[in-house]
Amino acid sequence: MINLSTQSTLPLPPGRLGLPAIGESISYLRDPAGFIAKRQQQHGNIFKTHLFARPTIVLIGADAARFLFSNDGQKLEMTNTPNFEILLGAKSIGVQTGAAHQILRRQLFQAFQPRALENYAIAMEAVTRRYLQKWEQMGTLTWYEELKKYTLDIACRLFVGVSTAADESLEKVYEAWSEGLLTIPVRFPGSKFDRAVRAREELLARFDSLIDERQQHPSSEKDVLSILLVAKDEAGNSLSRAAIKDNILGMLIAGHETLTSALTSLCLLLAQHPKVLEAVRTEQAQLGFPTQLTQETLKQMIYLEQVLKEVLRIAPPVVRSGSRKVLESCEFGGYLIPQGWDVYYQIPETHQDSQIYTHPEQFDPDRFSPERTQDKQKLFSHIPFGGGIRECLGKEFARLEMKLFAALLVRDYKWELVPGQNLERVVLPFSRPRDGLKVKFSRR
Ligand code: HEM
Repeated sequence: MINLSTQSTLPLPPGRLGLPAIGESISYLRDPAGFIAKRQQQHGNIFKTHLFARPTIVLIGADAARFLFSNDGQKLEMTNTPNFEILLGAKSIGVQTGAAHQILRRQLFQAFQPRALENYAIAMEAVTRRYLQKWEQMGTLTWYEELKKYTLDIACRLFVGVSTAADESLEKVYEAWSEGLLTIPVRFPGSKFDRAVRAREELLARFDSLIDERQQHPSSEKDVLSILLVAKDEAGNSLSRAAIKDNILGMLIAGHETLTSALTSLCLLLAQHPKVLEAVRTEQAQLGFPTQLTQETLKQMIYLEQVLKEVLRIAPPVVRSGSRKVLESCEFGGYLIPQGWDVYYQIPETHQDSQIYTHPEQFDPDRFSPERTQDKQKLFSHIPFGGGIRECLGKEFARLEMKLFAALLVRDYKWELVPGQNLERVVLPFSRPRDGLKVKFSRR
């Protein structure tokens, strides 16, 4: 414990604040991974900078993540860029803080309980089989683009009960929304931000009609929307229509871009590591290729679980986590974390700590075997889904979709990388190979 007078004598972390107003945002946006790597090399695991008009402290490593997660909601609080706040909406869980956030989180979580997930698996399997057949017919494809359609279809089917969303041009509306995130939040006709706000309005209007329809003709469908329409908090209050709409929108976005990134990395890493792919297939054969993928059968896929964990370690989809605003000055690592500044934790660099992970740059799923369990040496060494009070709400949904997809993919299909493509990883807004992963896809 450190008292206030000691705190005032603590130094600020090393680093630079850059140019007035602009800070170091331009260098960061030009090459986010390189920006962090360079400063980590210069200053170590904690440094100051100035990003998106805010003085900011970047924290790297499991200890830093622990500091942030354990102070989240107390000395630290979620903060967003103006773009995020406007595009997500005031009732979104990503914008709510304090007690309101906790109450909302418990309500939304009702749609991700094990029983709900068990139901989702059936529809997920059907959509997955349909897409695998489609890709077989296509023969050669850019997988990232196709996986975007696939994850959007699953999300729309399971969140709001709409099938074949990707065919309905909904994808374009989502793209317009996403493009508004990393731009200047000024609306003039035709600007990216204006298009993003219109996309938001269009999506909310669609959700409104879906809610009207559900209220007029209640269905036995057990999707996220139907669960949220009857979800109650401890005091018996239902979610408002605005809260349902903002959060369905947020979950559709959070749930499809991240999964697209994770699945693309999985497909790429398996293509680059044939021995790992063979071991995944051997495990499937040993389990007798169960036809119905229930939670029970999926649980037995221990090696596949290790592979997925390693994919999320080496290529975490979320590279820039949400920032936290410092509500009360505090200390970390001997430095002052001043009130009014922003802090954020770093997922990819935390996953590259050589004190935790031997040869962290290597793809080695056995590092998570029951004998090695490298990530268990220190809490928060493996944080693809964040942690603490804001740990990913869709974590189990995402793990289910990844596992089910991988099991069905490796059994019956093979794929090889089309030569001459650029596989360099682009990291914003979500991690992916530059040329989108071009493959030749066929039945084994
Ligand atoms: C939060 C990652 C899939 C919904 C988060 C955070 C991370 C993350 C790192 C915390 C951000 C922070 O600390 O600022 C991922 C990854 C996914 C994934 C890697 C897939 C592989 C999903 C899915 C959903 C979802 C499928 C759909 C429900 C959310 C929500 C939050 C969140 C609502 C905010 C939670 C809160 O503020 O309390 N996710 N996510 N995510 N995620 Fe995910």
